[in-house]
Amino acid sequence: MTRHFLNLSDAGGDAIAAMLGDALDRKAARQGWPKGRPDSDAPLAGHVLAMIFEKSSTRTRFSFEMAMTQLGGSVIVADAGSMQLGRGESVADTARVLSAYVDAIMLRTDDHAKIEVMAHHAGVPVINALTDLSHPCQIVADLLTIVDHGKALPGLQFAWLGDGNNVLNSIVEAAGLMKFDVRIGCPEGYDPDERFIAQARAGGADISIHRDADEAAAGADVIVTDTWISMGQRGGDAKLAVMMPFQVDAALMARARPEALFLHCLPAHRGEEVTADVIDGPQSVIFDEAENRLHAQKSILRWVFGQL
Ligand code: CP
Repeated sequence: MTRHFLNLSDAGGDAIAAMLGDALDRKAARQGWPKGRPDSDAPLAGHVLAMIFEKSSTRTRFSFEMAMTQLGGSVIVADAGSMQLGRGESVADTARVLSAYVDAIMLRTDDHAKIEVMAHHAGVPVINALTDLSHPCQIVADLLTIVDHGKALPGLQFAWLGDGNNVLNSIVEAAGLMKFDVRIGCPEGYDPDERFIAQARAGGADISIHRDADEAAAGADVIVTDTWISMGQRGGDAKLAVMMPFQVDAALMARARPEALFLHCLPAHRGEEVTADVIDGPQSVIFDEAENRLHAQKSILRWVFGQL
């Protein structure tokens, strides 16, 4: 059966644990190597990944291309606007056509239903590189960063501050699969998707929503936030004002455990969701997190091809 990676549950907890182990091993094995040199086993030699972007990207675009390079494969990158997809060709037809040319398809889009249609009609694996609903690749990199910094996931307490967006949905989903808890500090009207919360609770995770930022951050092992105005969203000054009590600043970080990590998937807006002293401070691991997009994606790619 074709393995798609539209959400973390498509893989499940055991596969995510295997991805994290594989990513740590491969990352360690190529320390000091030129970045374009393939891993010694080049496990995806001859494989081609199509990368389609309907939204802007820096990290996802570069890290996926380098991931395929290091695994011995190659990519074809296209902005949807330069494809017939951007002129009305259906997602279903595009999926069937591309499946004849490439070995896997990665899509960044808005409506999650589009990637579900892509996966339904594709004869090759489809990977979610961000939709309005979820961002599973980002969260594998986040988990890798936490583990790489010496923390075991089960029993950890995450605190999310700010908008209940696609990144939070995938963190909540991960909580049920990897057995950690999430306290969500967000204003009323900005809660994450209820389906992910229900699924995580069914998996044993303690997911709680707080309208007070201090309460959410108290005793946390990991503090996470993200931009308040996601790509393609309107919100403006009214949204910034309602989010401001959930800004991550030094006082909020002091509510967490002294050894707590600060994560942000980037791009960041210093002075909005996080202050500069926190994001550029000693507890921030944002650039390890960004690097780990590369290592995590290599393992996601190996999983969709049945190698993990
Ligand atoms: N975090 C993330 O997905 O970054 P890009 O939008 O730059 O790909």
